[in-house]
Amino acid sequence: VTLGIDLGTSGVKVVALDTGGRVVASTTRTYPLLTPRPGWTEQRPQDWASASLEALKELATTLQAGGWTPHALGLSGQMHGAVFLDRQGEVIRPAPLWNDQRTGSAVDEIEAKIPREELIARTGNRAVTGFQLPKLLWLRQAEPENFARLHKVLLPKDYLGYVLTGHFFTEPSDASGTGALNLATRTWDREVLKALSLNAELFPEVVDSWAVVGQILPDLAAYTGLPTDLKVVAGGGDNAAAGIGLGLGAHRPGVGSVSLGTSGVLFAPLDTPTPDPQGRIHLFAHADGGYHLLGVTLACAGALQWFHDALAPEMGFSELLAEAGTVPDGAEGVTFLPYLAGERSPLMNPDVRGSWSGLSLAHRRPHLVRALLEGTVCALADTYQVMRPLSSVTTLLATGGGARSDLWLGLVSGALDLPVQHIEHAPGAAEGAALLAMPAAGLFPDLKAVMTTLRPQGEAVAPQPMDQALKQHRAALEDLLGRP
Ligand code: XUL
Repeated sequence: VTLGIDLGTSGVKVVALDTGGRVVASTTRTYPLLTPRPGWTEQRPQDWASASLEALKELATTLQAGGWTPHALGLSGQMHGAVFLDRQGEVIRPAPLWNDQRTGSAVDEIEAKIPREELIARTGNRAVTGFQLPKLLWLRQAEPENFARLHKVLLPKDYLGYVLTGHFFTEPSDASGTGALNLATRTWDREVLKALSLNAELFPEVVDSWAVVGQILPDLAAYTGLPTDLKVVAGGGDNAAAGIGLGLGAHRPGVGSVSLGTSGVLFAPLDTPTPDPQGRIHLFAHADGGYHLLGVTLACAGALQWFHDALAPEMGFSELLAEAGTVPDGAEGVTFLPYLAGERSPLMNPDVRGSWSGLSLAHRRPHLVRALLEGTVCALADTYQVMRPLSSVTTLLATGGGARSDLWLGLVSGALDLPVQHIEHAPGAAEGAALLAMPAAGLFPDLKAVMTTLRPQGEAVAPQPMDQALKQHRAALEDLLGRP
């Protein structure tokens, strides 16, 4: 078997996959999210390490009992965070995360020093508050004494790789989420770093996502009960790793994915790095050696969770969804804009907010839920408008908690005018990381063989009409932002 780790925001998940891609064991651990100031989100990298080691220890016990031997471990995790290490490899301060919003003035600094079009052409993205590069500039501006101690800045999963092996490294899929990787060369962009007076030595070496970066350190093998010759494989950022799990890559450009999780995510593989010239969606390196577009709408299933917690805590999610299914397209005039947490793609505006409109005495809870679902789907459709001319996707595989609802998936299918396939037990980032480790374990000749052999099968859901909802959404968005 191979092992995969997903170092998430709410916790860590570790899985073991057999050569048929089946999960033979899995375990999870949680750790706290720190919010020391409004807009700040941090975690203690030491918490990631101890939770991961505990989870690996439990997994090793289960594997031993089942007679399984793990050969390689692939890493994945939340993207964009910044782990600041000193010369001794000690963590300098808690790590700001992907959803941290403290970096407004650092983003301004980047935009003042590098023209936006140039940054997009080089790195695939405009300066984004959540990315790692502005976090580094924030440290220099706000905590100069910490910046003076800085020896290396690592992404979350790469810190775990450092703990496990003692080596500093990263790989292109996560590194492209820093904002400092040149997408054409898949190495750190010296011009970008020079313009910001940053030393390239602060960043780790970039290796292939499927490359072996070392073996587990002997004391950690002893602590966890994992074999001393366990190979550690670089892996991928969580979105790229999940894409590997779904078999999405440059070899199959027609298949993308939609994830209805806390946020809504559209993923489209590409074989060449072609960004949106305005940077309204992300372009990252993929873990298969190619590239992918990524659109992230911040409130998706998270919006339904908010509605449930704030207004209908006594109801089950399936009841709420069933009610919404009784209301026609357009929710009889009710419109919901889902920008509860600001918006990334395609608005790239952390300050926009959500709203209901069109309410009358005739409306009931089912109309509110229907409008909420339609609003999240319209936000994905706005992102897809930007993605469509750049990608050749003709089918979407669906994942995430919201994908359990055929109604929600049907609305996506209707709004994007694409077949959407539901997958039973869809693999996630941890499974994708374990697949990335299969060539290193000698179980497959290369990653392409893994991805074409072990990809999941889906079943298309029936599309639902969205014409009226889309019309209302466009009008509400125009009211909010003015005419484009
Ligand atoms: C992607 C992003 C999130 C994190 C969450 O750009 O910010 O999907 O990777 O883990």
